Amino acid sequence: MIYADNAATTKLDDDALNAMLPFLRDQYGNASQPYSFSRSAKKALKEARETIASCISANPEQILFTSCGTESDNWVIKELALSHSASWRVAVSEIEHHAILNPCKQLEGLGYKVDYLGVDDKGIVDCAEIIKLETAPNLVSIMFANNEIGSIEPIKDLCRVAHKRESLFHSDAVQAIGHLKIDVQDLDVDFLSASAHKFNGPKGVGFLYAKNPNLLSPFICGGAQEYGLRAGTENIASIVGMSVALKKNCEEIEKNKCHLQDLEHALLHELYNAGLNFVRNGAENHIPGNISLSFKDFEGEALLHRLDLMGISVSTGSACDSKNIQVSHVLKAIGLDKEYTKGTIRITFGKGNTIDEAMAIADALKKIHDV
Ligand SMILES: Cc1ncc(COP(=O)(O)O)c(C=O)c1O
Repeated sequence: MIYADNAATTKLDDDALNAMLPFLRDQYGNASQPYSFSRSAKKALKEARETIASCISANPEQILFTSCGTESDNWVIKELALSHSASWRVAVSEIEHHAILNPCKQLEGLGYKVDYLGVDDKGIVDCAEIIKLETAPNLVSIMFANNEIGSIEPIKDLCRVAHKRESLFHSDAVQAIGHLKIDVQDLDVDFLSASAHKFNGPKGVGFLYAKNPNLLSPFICGGAQEYGLRAGTENIASIVGMSVALKKNCEEIEKNKCHLQDLEHALLHELYNAGLNFVRNGAENHIPGNISLSFKDFEGEALLHRLDLMGISVSTGSACDSKNIQVSHVLKAIGLDKEYTKGTIRITFGKGNTIDEAMAIADALKKIHDV
């Protein structure tokens, strides 16, 4: 089996798993309790928060644990708007994940105004998109890197322009964190969303960075966890696993990047040499290992199933979109030629993939093409 859908989810890192096990087995105390049995849980929670904060140059008090990237996104997009009047305006890019776009739709249903910022043919948002908005939004949200085509947005510039208009700035960094160096102080973002299962951590846990957590209203009301902003007994094992996975990936960013670039080159070299009719989507500056290809002579869905029968897992778009047979909103937004849109697959390598696997995928694509 070859797994090449790492933008959908990644394999749990062994060190992360080993760090989680004690909290699932023996040290199961509730971190909110004062007795000594809970001490290790409380300590682990504190250390995980510190580790995660240091990976992105934040302060520990600015890290709020959530259940996933979707929750972090909803908190900023929806909850922030709902805690203000309907005059609150949001601006997001056209190519955001549905974890951003669907809360925006909900807000529109409630009478809020949302502006959608266009992208160029590589999926990049230009700062001019923010400048030309007639009314300054209260919040601008632009993803760090796109999940379908891998393009990395100029977040620092976009954030600076948003701030000039006195807008808060959020970035959905779910695809970027653990794969690219992120320094929230240097970027000056107000909020940033992350999800552990995209960087070899466990599923069901994520976090939200908030420069000033006081700007947020409580997302889940109940106990005093997460400074009273997100109640619910903390998922210690997963939070610990997330911190170990993030630290490890951040320490290995350059090494992993080189390896993933080698895999990309190996695959693409084979495909170009074979003379297959395809275009590669996305910007030169993209998430390492993210390869979105659109073939003229193929149908993406059929291609995915043929590859699956050959033991290869790739995706047609984002995992959350794969049941949706319409052309993806991202491919529409970049204006991809209609002849190519239907034949799109996304191959996303992870740090565990090998050159042999990249060559095997290229061989499989060539074989399917030749039939
Ligand atoms: C860019 C982006 N944002 C948000 C999400 C949702 O993350 P989660 O699966 O942790 O809810 C995804 C998942 O694919 C994503 O790619």
